Amino acid sequence: MSHPLNPIRSEAELAAVTLALGAAEAGGPLSTAEIALAKAAAEQLVDPRMVEDVRCSIMAGADPLGDAFSALRSPEVRRENGATYTPAPIVRTMVDWAESTRIPCRVVDPGVGSARFLSFAGAKFPEAELIGIDVDPLAALMARANLAVSGCGARARIILGDYRRFKEQVDGSTLYIGNPPYVRHHQITAPWKEWLAAEAAKLKLTASKLAGLHVYFFLATASSAKPKDFGAFITASEWLDVNYGALVRSLMLGRLGGKSVTVIEPTAQPFPDAAATAAITTFEIGAKPTSVYFRRVEDLASLDELGKGRRVHRDRLASEGRWSHLTRSSEKPPEGYVELGELCRVHRGTVTGANGVWIAGAHSVGLPDAVLFPTITRAREVLEADGLLSDSRRLRRVINLPADLDELDSPTRQAVEKFLKVAKAMGANTGYVARNRKAWWAVGLRAAAPIISTYMARRPPGFIINKADARHINIAHGLYPREHLGEAVQNKLVAFLQTNISQKSGRTYAGGLTKFEPREMERLIVPGPALLAAGATL
Ligand SMILES: C[S@@+](CC[C@H](N)C(=O)[O-])C[C@H]1O[C@@H](n2cnc3c(N)ncnc32)[C@H](O)[C@@H]1O
Repeated sequence: MSHPLNPIRSEAELAAVTLALGAAEAGGPLSTAEIALAKAAAEQLVDPRMVEDVRCSIMAGADPLGDAFSALRSPEVRRENGATYTPAPIVRTMVDWAESTRIPCRVVDPGVGSARFLSFAGAKFPEAELIGIDVDPLAALMARANLAVSGCGARARIILGDYRRFKEQVDGSTLYIGNPPYVRHHQITAPWKEWLAAEAAKLKLTASKLAGLHVYFFLATASSAKPKDFGAFITASEWLDVNYGALVRSLMLGRLGGKSVTVIEPTAQPFPDAAATAAITTFEIGAKPTSVYFRRVEDLASLDELGKGRRVHRDRLASEGRWSHLTRSSEKPPEGYVELGELCRVHRGTVTGANGVWIAGAHSVGLPDAVLFPTITRAREVLEADGLLSDSRRLRRVINLPADLDELDSPTRQAVEKFLKVAKAMGANTGYVARNRKAWWAVGLRAAAPIISTYMARRPPGFIINKADARHINIAHGLYPREHLGEAVQNKLVAFLQTNISQKSGRTYAGGLTKFEPREMERLIVPGPALLAAGATL
């Protein structure tokens, strides 16, 4: 939208206004491309009163140059460089977060545009060097003009170039802050795709060729930043869920030191000309927080602060292929309570593909105990145990063979070979599940879960402490503590789950059947370890 006092009618005139505002004297020497723009602009006559209006407007905190640019250059053309400038409330919130985190000695804005971030950060951090990088010479001139008017021109450096090549480091802390361009992979050239793969490989990570440009910016930042550097980027939120975003998710849990993710709904128009969902990511290089904050806001008025919301344990993030649902927190747990997923990973039990074959019976007589594992194979074995399974003798046993049969001693091997003939005759090698296993005979039971639960019934799920080291198949879920939970705490957790979880917490189907997927179960609210240890909740 054009500023009311700002009748700038062409890009050449815009360049001329930037120069009249002092662009050539701010942010270091002009690049060749900027000089060329300046020469062309020299032919433009600009009204000094208009220049003064623009100057006043900048000093009042607006960005009439960036607004004029966004109005003059069509969204289609701007899209080629991902040039969508950031609304002021978002810039303010991100810079405020930075200020509450650390005072940097340098601020770097990757894809500086008209320097919305850099100008605001310049005011907050009066000692910091300000570096803005952009591939667009007109953006570079606007950035210089804005910095000149806000009095930051002398400590700013505007670099016309590709952010992916920026590697300068300084001794003190650098703040990386901005809105990396959103450009789809189709527009990214093959050599840059190779660069992405090679840079990711240096960090022992893999990259997808389908990654958008913002992923490159995350990687470039993670690769060249050093401990105590920190940052906040606003990007499209896609990387939270799509396959190509796995690289950013790994960086967040690794070198980048992700601290928080705040998702902004399209209703809040985080990107003025696209109905896209945005994610603001904050990070501190080298930090390895045990949990990352996730939050979702529907309007910019709610975007008061970053680094708030629901805490999600890093191990849980590592095991989740999608992250955006984590921002859709139900209500905030009461003080001292956490989501079950913070304490335990919940895993579905093993799918045998043919219980008739793999649960031991008359057809498997002769198999030695070494390959037979007492296993929960019916929900009622959990429900009837009433919270504690201390004896596995009444459980059926699952035949759990290694993929490499050479691991077996020879009498066992002989018995197994004999059984496998029977299993084959029963068609055990032809089913979908068997064909997709490393070896069709290796069911691959998971390790015994310290806590086992049912997940589908016409009643609330049942939970047991698994003192019997029983395994479980896919009629049950296994709960594996992420960190050590003492025996007393585990007992109290199970007692709580047994008595406090209602059918309402899961998904109810016709006929009253309630089902808890592992991720749904991880969202159950339970007392945290301190409350459990104190026994106050039972
Ligand atoms: C989303 S805009 C953000 C502009 C500004 N930081 C803001 O938030 O208002 C992205 C900017 O990145 C620039 N850009 C695109 N590709 C780039 C690259 N490879 N290196 C540096 N800047 C780039 C675009 O020209 C555009 O100005």
